[in-house]
Amino acid sequence: MNVPTIVSPSILNCDFADLKGELAKIRSADFAHVDIMDNHFVPNLTLGVPVAEAAVRVSPIPVDAHLMIEDPDRWAPLYAQMGCASVSFHVEAAHAPIRLARELHRLGARASLALKPGTAIEPYFDILPEFDQILIMTVEPGFGGQPFLDSMLPKIRRTREAISARNLDIWIQIDGGVSRKTITRAAEAGANNFVAGSAVFGAEDAYAEVGALRTLADSHTH
Ligand code: DX5
Ligand code: ZN
Repeated sequence: MNVPTIVSPSILNCDFADLKGELAKIRSADFAHVDIMDNHFVPNLTLGVPVAEAAVRVSPIPVDAHLMIEDPDRWAPLYAQMGCASVSFHVEAAHAPIRLARELHRLGARASLALKPGTAIEPYFDILPEFDQILIMTVEPGFGGQPFLDSMLPKIRRTREAISARNLDIWIQIDGGVSRKTITRAAEAGANNFVAGSAVFGAEDAYAEVGALRTLADSHTH
């Protein structure tokens, strides 16, 4: 199965005083990745429903919500309802991941299952068909600017193999430490959706950085 290369800049470290202008800079990307943290699931607090709603309203590209929160069963549907095109929730926090994935689909969003670095993918192989995407964290969630964990490459590889073996059309998103230096390793391992925060918003030209990351990933995907 041919999987598309998707670039999803994280706005975590953007200038929130100019959300609209920052989102306009990344119009060359496929999705705007919005990190929602609740200071319970992760030791950091970012933004919630009202700001995500504002992002959906002013973003020139679809919004990809990444919920690093407790009780996603309760909150994730709201993000689909407000128009997020894709909603990732963490399996470590979800009480009923299958029911939640089906609810997200009913509300018109792509359903994505997120895994922290220490969470194995194997127990979820049988429920892969419920999802459009698996998000494999390549840092411990909570903060931008951390180094990419090379130890996640085998997990990416095994996930891609499991998806291919079942002939499924599922994206693998990676998030954390993605840059020009690390993106090719992840693409080779089988990731196709690349979240990059500091690499894009720390670059002089965010628009051009998206293109550079896309070109590098494209030349290394299978
Ligand atoms: C981390 C967030 C990421 C983060 C990525 O918990 O989920 O989306 O913003 O930032 P970088 O690319 O700087 O690692
Ligand atoms: Zn994220």
